[in-house]
Amino acid sequence: MSAARSGATASQGRCARLIDWVDERFPLTAMIKEHATEYYAAKNFNAWYVFGVLAIVVLVIQLVTGIFLTMNYKPSATEAFASVEYIMRDVQWGWLIRYMHSTGASAFFIVVYLHMFRALLYGSYKNPRELLWLIGMVIYLALMAEAFMGYLLPWGQMSYWGAQVIVSLFGAIPGVGADLVEWIRGDYFISDITLNRFFALHVAAVPLALVLLVVMHILALHETGSLNPDGIEIKERKDSRGIPLDGVAFHPYYTAKDLVAIVIFFALFAAVVFFAPEMGGYFLEHANFEPANMLKTPEHIAPVWYFTPFYAILRSVPSKGWGAFLMMMAIVLLFFLPWLDRCRVKSIRYRGWTYKLALAVFIVSFVALGYLGLQPATELVYVYAARFFAALYFLFFLLMPLYTSAEKTRPVPERVVYDASH
Ligand code: HEM
Repeated sequence: MSAARSGATASQGRCARLIDWVDERFPLTAMIKEHATEYYAAKNFNAWYVFGVLAIVVLVIQLVTGIFLTMNYKPSATEAFASVEYIMRDVQWGWLIRYMHSTGASAFFIVVYLHMFRALLYGSYKNPRELLWLIGMVIYLALMAEAFMGYLLPWGQMSYWGAQVIVSLFGAIPGVGADLVEWIRGDYFISDITLNRFFALHVAAVPLALVLLVVMHILALHETGSLNPDGIEIKERKDSRGIPLDGVAFHPYYTAKDLVAIVIFFALFAAVVFFAPEMGGYFLEHANFEPANMLKTPEHIAPVWYFTPFYAILRSVPSKGWGAFLMMMAIVLLFFLPWLDRCRVKSIRYRGWTYKLALAVFIVSFVALGYLGLQPATELVYVYAARFFAALYFLFFLLMPLYTSAEKTRPVPERVVYDASH
């Protein structure tokens, strides 16, 4: 045996002994087996299945860049705006860290919206994955809270007035509203105190909750097993060793496939960070390059794009109370999806035309509302359009028990349909 080979064998032996030592004290190998090398996922995943992993990637980007931003950011009304400018101009690589964080916020919502849409396509929220869906919805709420509080931190005009509009919505709650608004702000107006508490929640409490929720999300997923584009439960057909006939080990097969998606994601992400970090005012709004001024309301207050579908619903009714209620309902209804959808067939591939049509209408109304939420509410035509699309949005959910129970479905195959050529 050559000296090099015997050296390699000796170090492998040492490595194996170290792993044995750890395994006797911590279930390392057992966990890797359970969640990667012996976790079987259907062999027919398509591109829609990469967004969960991409969401983890973006979460890591946000956590890491967030920690570095915190090293130079000052959570005080007198210093916050200037400290962000300092990060952009004077801190080494500060511009990159900040643009990665601001682009990461929008990337998070793009990835999560596509991830949720996949669930609507393939019925991933249905029995037995209801809890997985509910945990996902709590993640979505936490993500919205995280993005909203983060947006106050640069203390620009839109930070200030956006927070003013949204926090004041709690005032529409009968009885406790006014006190609640004061409690959230910690003051009679959005002030240094509000900035400080939003900072604490944004950098500590909500990220911690998000990480815990994501761990729960993955554990719930691995309990039921992932679904697939055919909507077939692969656990129901196993070979003599107990391995699903249509399954492949997550590692190395899907780790390799996910890596391709991660590389493509980073290419697109870098293109935005380096060439269009403001994205024409959609990722970083122009008004936010002006310091917050509590005496000067911007002409047109609009939240960042990922909130605008809900903002359009809020503005579509004249009463602030009803607007806030409908906006809340637009999100609450999503929680009930597993029970509103009565169709036994999961995947859209085998579902009837009614669901396909309803889903198409829903997506069109969501995008249209997103567009309308960005427009000034002074034009009446926008208000009427927002009412029309808001009605369609709600009808998707409210009529769902009807059109899904009467749905004419196609027979679902017993085994997954997979063509390796594409
Ligand atoms: C930080 C945010 C999130 C992360 C990191 C995350 C992560 C993941 C991962 C890694 C998977 C498995 C891979 C995949 O199927 O794509 C998954 C599956 C799933 N996620 Fe998420 N997720 C997040 C948010 C959400 C949200 C907001 C929802 C819905 C409200 C959701 C619902 C689901 C469902 C239903 C599945 C199962 C899909 C299936 O098996 O067909 N997730 N998630």
